[in-house]
Amino acid sequence: MTADLNAVTLLWALRSPCNLGCRYCYFGTIEEHRGAIPQHSGALSHLARTDLDLAAITAFVRTLPGSRVQRIFIAGGEPLIWPPVMEVVAAIKAAGVQVILCTNGIPLNRPELVDMIINLGVDAVSVSLDSPDADYNDTWRPARNGIHGHHDVISGIQALIAARGSSSSPRVGLYSVITRLNIDVVRTGAALASELGCDYFVPQPIALDRGHALHTQLSLTGGDAAAMSEAFTQLYRSGAPVRLPDPSYPARVVDSITHQQGFVSGCFGGTNLFFIEPDGSVYDCPSSLKIAASAAARTIRGADAHALFAAPGPCTDCALFSRDCVNMWPLMGFGRFLNEEVPT
Ligand SMILES: C[S@@+](CC[C@H](N)C(=O)[O-])C[C@H]1O[C@@H](n2cnc3c(N)ncnc32)[C@H](O)[C@@H]1O
Ligand code: SF4
Repeated sequence: MTADLNAVTLLWALRSPCNLGCRYCYFGTIEEHRGAIPQHSGALSHLARTDLDLAAITAFVRTLPGSRVQRIFIAGGEPLIWPPVMEVVAAIKAAGVQVILCTNGIPLNRPELVDMIINLGVDAVSVSLDSPDADYNDTWRPARNGIHGHHDVISGIQALIAARGSSSSPRVGLYSVITRLNIDVVRTGAALASELGCDYFVPQPIALDRGHALHTQLSLTGGDAAAMSEAFTQLYRSGAPVRLPDPSYPARVVDSITHQQGFVSGCFGGTNLFFIEPDGSVYDCPSSLKIAASAAARTIRGADAHALFAAPGPCTDCALFSRDCVNMWPLMGFGRFLNEEVPT
């Protein structure tokens, strides 16, 4: 398939709840929000007080056919613990739009769910795991029930890969969050992905506000730039056994940890990429800097995808590049993981 430069990609945080309580999650933690749920524009929480219901979600999905939307990343929260999620996936696929599921992998241990993923023709499943080391992963990505963890993520990936058999669909990939404490996952994560039979690997830099309690401990800084560059150089030089983000990605990652803010000429945010929050709010991208600089969000509630994502203006320059948005490049270049031709 040839890439369509007019196509719109949606990153859709479909629902807020999650079975894990990752300590660095963009959604914060339930414990901190029980007392005071954040109220500022674009704020996310695992407490699902304002999440859209299935009727509102499917009403919007029914307007997708013939719109510019061609690819939807379903994330969250954890999308695969929401019982009606596959109804939404089925409706999106029926609209002729690609679906990539972004999951913590634990729900993939449910055989009926894996069967539905395969039977509906989901295009890819991206699974998050931060290390081949179970203790490291489960320290930062603990399960809320105190039971599930690394072992279940691995068995979930294995179940999905076994179920697809000799078919190349869905593509399966591993996503790892890089912090100051696990820079070596840039290489070891690729090896693990390959060992498991995954098709792609994306190491993504942690994004935490300066005021976050873990910022000092986990956020990469300019002091980590040399180690990060070296890790990425080795990864790309070694001819990794799985597909990787395009070769411009490592420099972007390093740039984002070296500079607090930066400039992107002709950014795709708001032109080819949009971010939808669980309450239906639509932003140009998930960057907190961009959200803070945005006028009031639009909404998918009661909206038509044709009007909401009407003909594109030219991509506009953005002076708000940060580690918050660097993770959008692998989404926009996702065709390389689906074996599609991608614009250079
Ligand atoms: C918010 S999760 C939602 C989907 C699913 N629950 C999962 O964990 O894959 C989407 C991705 O964001 C990553 N993520 C969460 N918080 C992050 C942060 N502060 N910085 C960088 N990546 C983060 C997760 O590891 C995951 O790969
Ligand atoms: S599994 Fe995903 S949504 Fe859940 S806490 Fe972890 S990063 Fe956040």
